[in-house]
Amino acid sequence: MLGKFVYSNPTKLYFGENSLENLPQELACYGKNVMLVYGGGSIKKNGIYENVVKLLRAGGKTVFEDAGVMPNPTLEKLYEGCRIAKENKVDLILAVGGGSVCDYAKAVSVSAYCETDPWEKYYLRMEAVDNKIIPVGCVLTMVGTGSEMNGGSVITNHAAKAKIGRVFGDNVFPRFSILDPTYTFTLPRYQMVAGFFDIMSHILEQYFSGTDDNTSDYLMEGLLRSLIHSSRIAVQSPEDYEARSNIMWIATWALNTLVAKGKSTDWMVHMIGQSIGAYTNATHGMTLAAVSLPYYRHIMPYGLAKFKRFAINVWEVRPEGKTDEQIAQAGLAAMESYMRELGLVLNGRELGVDETMLDGIAQGSFILDGGYKVLNKDEIVEILKETLKA
Ligand code: NZQ
Ligand code: ZN
Repeated sequence: MLGKFVYSNPTKLYFGENSLENLPQELACYGKNVMLVYGGGSIKKNGIYENVVKLLRAGGKTVFEDAGVMPNPTLEKLYEGCRIAKENKVDLILAVGGGSVCDYAKAVSVSAYCETDPWEKYYLRMEAVDNKIIPVGCVLTMVGTGSEMNGGSVITNHAAKAKIGRVFGDNVFPRFSILDPTYTFTLPRYQMVAGFFDIMSHILEQYFSGTDDNTSDYLMEGLLRSLIHSSRIAVQSPEDYEARSNIMWIATWALNTLVAKGKSTDWMVHMIGQSIGAYTNATHGMTLAAVSLPYYRHIMPYGLAKFKRFAINVWEVRPEGKTDEQIAQAGLAAMESYMRELGLVLNGRELGVDETMLDGIAQGSFILDGGYKVLNKDEIVEILKETLKA
């Protein structure tokens, strides 16, 4: 039965080739001071930086740059961003990059005017935002996180070995996001496929929960089928616009809050993956790839009917002559061969995980109760051990 919910998504999207041409009309809605946030320089190599700066200048903006946002943005960087935003009284934070840049922009947006330590207030104690929020706009260059249309903001505190994702309310969602699929053509293959798996994981985290008949599950099966189809094309032909644009759109819908409405959700793959990230700083999508199969094989008996449905409806496993368990296993086997075909990392060692970290990673994994089985720390260690054997 669908639970009660409120649905509101205030992010305005401009989708398609050359959609940057819509930036001026958005810039016109904000004051003069714009903080331009970006990562390690990919946008300078592919020309996006130049085009954005041209439009900012043409719009009469005073630009304050905050470059060098690293993949898995850190708390130290957040403090730096808060200083830049506050000292320059910025009216808009324009994030040009992937999930890290966009998440970081949201973190600065709520933290710049926070009177106490934002890590403690917003990431440890998960308090509601009660200070001024600086509006954020996003020009997306990497597909996967869904950060362009959600309130998610993940910050890593290396000193505390903690990577924590906070989901803010719709007052913190980007006000607008510009999604040009051609911007993703320059992504290195490793990042591209990590993003594809991040999308798949977002869908699975919301699909593998609940036993009732929920419309979202049908939507998610469709999104998964489209993702599998288009990602297979994209790894062969990275500049296939049809495939890359479909994937960009699937990523947004996978985590813009729609499919979660009225449903319980799991998110344990992300909790364990994030804790791996805190220890290794590995690429987010790859941490999820390493955890997923051991995790799903572990919980399959507790949600067998859904794993059977997944096998048949998503992977086209033929059920004839098989037990429910065999069907479900065949679904996960098909997922494994797809993951190998894409070149995803299945072995935790390739991400820098070793035996000495397993207890710490398990301790750092938040245990949630929305999935088919509430894990204990020992089970997380067992799952992590499996990733070292993959
Ligand atoms: O820094 P630059 O030089 O720009 O290079 C980036 C970075 O090295 C590069 N890149 C991005 N666009 C490119 C490009 N290289 C060439 N051409 C382009 N067009 O790609 C690398 C990875 O970028 P990053 O932003 O780190 O990747 P992603 O989008 O996967 O973001 C990962 C972060 O998002 C968080 C993750 O935990 C991680 O911290 N997540 C955010 C979520 C949310 N907001 O809801 C949910 C996710 O589950 C995830 O946890
Ligand atoms: Zn993710």
